[in-house]
Amino acid sequence: MTEPVLPEGILTLDRSGPIPLSEQLYRCFREAVRGGLLPSGTRLPSTRRLASSLGIARNTVNTAYDLLQAEGIISVRAGAAPRIVDGLPPEGMPLEQTATSSVPALSSRGKVMSANLRGEGWAFRHGALQPGAPALDSFPYEDWARCLRRAARQVRSSDLLYRNYSGVPALKQQLARHLAAERGVRAKPEQILITSSMQASLSLLSQALADPGDPVWLEEPGYLGARTAFHVAGLTIGQLPIDQYGADVGKVSVSDNPPRIIYVTPSHHYPLGSRMPIARRLALLEAARKAEAIILEDDYDSEFLFSGRPVAALYGLAEEGQVIYLGTFSKSLMPGLRVAYCVVPSALATPLGQLMRNMGCAANVQVQAALAQFMDSGGYQKHLKQIRQLYRERGNRLVEVLRSRLGNRVVVDPPTGNVQLTVFFREKIDDVAVAQAMQDRGYSVCPLSNTYMGDESRAGLIIGFAGATDAQIDNGMEALGNLLEELEP
Ligand SMILES: Cc1ncc(COP(=O)(O)O)c(C=O)c1O
Repeated sequence: MTEPVLPEGILTLDRSGPIPLSEQLYRCFREAVRGGLLPSGTRLPSTRRLASSLGIARNTVNTAYDLLQAEGIISVRAGAAPRIVDGLPPEGMPLEQTATSSVPALSSRGKVMSANLRGEGWAFRHGALQPGAPALDSFPYEDWARCLRRAARQVRSSDLLYRNYSGVPALKQQLARHLAAERGVRAKPEQILITSSMQASLSLLSQALADPGDPVWLEEPGYLGARTAFHVAGLTIGQLPIDQYGADVGKVSVSDNPPRIIYVTPSHHYPLGSRMPIARRLALLEAARKAEAIILEDDYDSEFLFSGRPVAALYGLAEEGQVIYLGTFSKSLMPGLRVAYCVVPSALATPLGQLMRNMGCAANVQVQAALAQFMDSGGYQKHLKQIRQLYRERGNRLVEVLRSRLGNRVVVDPPTGNVQLTVFFREKIDDVAVAQAMQDRGYSVCPLSNTYMGDESRAGLIIGFAGATDAQIDNGMEALGNLLEELEP
């Protein structure tokens, strides 16, 4: 039988490049098959003949043929020439997925779960004055590195295997002590679940405690992360009006459509900053009791409120099971540590721990162990003290500059906590357009109106200050002033 001859030009090898010749050969054959140049049944040269005609080692051809055979592109039988397998379409076949044809589509649920509700104009690029971001320059890198190193050496137990999905016991103990002393939250360590973020806690709880379609109340304006978690869980979101005293349950009817969940930020309302007084707290607890709702208390920043001692958490006023307390280390340390926590009723701790395992959402064990050491050594308290002072100074400076440069255009109060503040425009201005224009200039500020679900929104900006340098504050507010002047009617 005559030796098969391959079509001209299908085997082009780069002998000086980094890709092994066997790999190049395999790719050339694959491409030729894909393009229809080597249809089904085509006989290929033997390995010896091909190696000698190309001037390469026989082993190189063997490897390429083995790969082609493993992929089912050629068949090799003893005593017969290798052949392109039968059954390929005559015009060739798409061996690789093309971007348009076969990328798997998201399911309807996947589309809901991956929706971005933060809306047009929200800052996603990293820039100066970014809301939500703690200061990178004040993180205690050296102390943290020591704790991490020690944790990596010391944790050798089965904690490193498939256990403790709801958190490392040492960190739960530290947190139980810390929350009792700082926030008046008295709980057994077993009631604490350690998650990877407040967002994870909110998603987990909204899916575990309510069914799709169930009503949930969310502050208006309110935290977009909570809105997202409720949306992902398929809940029906109702608005809980906010005034200078925080959420006002007196403005909504409990009996018409009783909520399953009520989400609030009573210590420091997001994004307006109000603190809920005792009368409102009691009214809220009473409304929740009537509705048989569970309250999710988001206490994201109260460990470093600047002025005076913060009032104790709502959790401490409630009966067992009425409130789930949620905290995060994203603001007091870094979002990148991926550690947050929630305090749940004793009866829910075991099933929710199992749910965390089922969903595979748990925080890193060594990071948790390091954090437990950091808290135990007093390093965390020391850090909180430093950032209370530093963030207050940076926040006050931003307010001074805003008032002196833009006092006629904006209303702003000195921040009482947090890593960002809210400034209100005096006139009805398109805050989305202003935020976008600021982002184009390198400032990642966000529009206040996006935090409202209803049409009655106020216009303003949410501006981060925790990590801001003096120059960023000065130049950023200069840029904002110029923009607002350009917008003048
Ligand atoms: C009200 C509120 N809760 C929670 C968080 C974030 O928590 P985490 O980063 O742990 O998801 C933020 C962050 O900006 C927030 O503003």
